[in-house]
Amino acid sequence: MPAIVVVGGQWGDEGKGRVIDLLAQKAHIVARYSAGNNAGHTVINELGEFRLHLVPAGILYPDKTCIIGNGLVIDPAILLEEIADLEARGVPVRGRLSLSDRAHVIMPWHRLIDNLDEKLRGKGAIGTTGRGVGPAFADKVARAGLRIADLIDPEALRDALSFLIPYKNAVLEKLYEAPPLSLEQVYAEYTELGSRLAPFVADTSALVQDALARGETVLLEGAQGALLDLDAGTYAYVTSSVPSSLAAGAAIGIGIGPTQIGTVLGVYKAYNTRVGNGPMPTELLDETGVLLREGGPRPEYGATTGRPRRCGWFDAVAARYSARLNGLTAAVLTRLDVLDRFPAIKVCTAYRIDGRTVDTMPASTTALARAEPVYEELPGWQQDTSGIRRFDELPPAARSYVHYIQDVLSTPICLVSIGPQREQAITIKPII
Ligand code: IMO
Ligand code: MG
Repeated sequence: MPAIVVVGGQWGDEGKGRVIDLLAQKAHIVARYSAGNNAGHTVINELGEFRLHLVPAGILYPDKTCIIGNGLVIDPAILLEEIADLEARGVPVRGRLSLSDRAHVIMPWHRLIDNLDEKLRGKGAIGTTGRGVGPAFADKVARAGLRIADLIDPEALRDALSFLIPYKNAVLEKLYEAPPLSLEQVYAEYTELGSRLAPFVADTSALVQDALARGETVLLEGAQGALLDLDAGTYAYVTSSVPSSLAAGAAIGIGIGPTQIGTVLGVYKAYNTRVGNGPMPTELLDETGVLLREGGPRPEYGATTGRPRRCGWFDAVAARYSARLNGLTAAVLTRLDVLDRFPAIKVCTAYRIDGRTVDTMPASTTALARAEPVYEELPGWQQDTSGIRRFDELPPAARSYVHYIQDVLSTPICLVSIGPQREQAITIKPII
């Protein structure tokens, strides 16, 4: 069976971790292919609540193999901490997790520059997660990055640092007026981290290729969402993943060809959220926005930074745009229950920009920032759906809402979630 990609269709935090957790039951391998520890994927199971940043959500099933692909940037200390936390909570990791030798490393200067850059940008700050992810991807593209293969080879690491430390110190001191880093200190710290990570390092592309050749089911766990993508998103208020966090990036970020992907599953929340800065046409600053944020069983706060998420109605213009860019073959709608209490539900069907009505995403971020949403109002159901497990048992207005979104996406919605617990989901059509 060709690989299945799970991607976010909005601004991240759509519930990808939760969807992976459901699908992983029937998979052999779960792999991350992009981003870094800016991602925060929450899974709730019988052991409690897990917030995963680098380790794929499949790790919570003891018989699954998990892979961190070449498309990621890895903060070694954070990954080791995440592994230790999982093991402390009774989740075996050793022997089940492989890390690509081609993944890039987040170094101390990346974290420093991420935060210094945000200060330099002032009012135009992106609102990054401050984890060094953007600068690490920038250095990957600038051919000034350091890869896991070099991290675990002390000689290669010293070689790389002998160029990188003076180079980055010049940037830190001259551009940001920040104190320099010590080569010896960084070398000592990172050789130690490298030696602890070495047992996990493998040629992960070959592992996935071999699994696909054996007919195994491979799940590719996306991070972020299309509207945060470097090419597709609300530039410059985007994340810096190279390859892209869109489905097309999954092949590159894990080391397979595009023909080895069969299913592209887009995850959408039943409304919109965004964390960080940048335009969000349907953002609600009134009490409806507060209700969307606070009213569900799990309030809307970032899993990585704890920041309150900006909330608003479902943006159909943006959703249609992201469905097309990802080439979706199926979709999932999450957190439908959060809408249970509203007498009427709005969907943004077009934008008014400078007196004109448009139903496509403008490339200009400043134009998008001026966009006024044009809403269509749909009837609410005002009924608790959290205990429902069959689609035909949902209130008619809730079913109509799901069908409405399905038409927007031009893609069948196969799964609807109505609460954070594993069993709070309605399968309309099995995905695996
Ligand atoms: P998951 O995988 C939501 C946002 C940040 C900021 C912008 C750039 O959990 O959906 P960065 O640190 O990446 O340079 O920040 O991107 N961002 C996310 N927002 N979910 C995520 O991941 C995100 N990863 C990055 O808030 O606006
Ligand atoms: Mg998240």
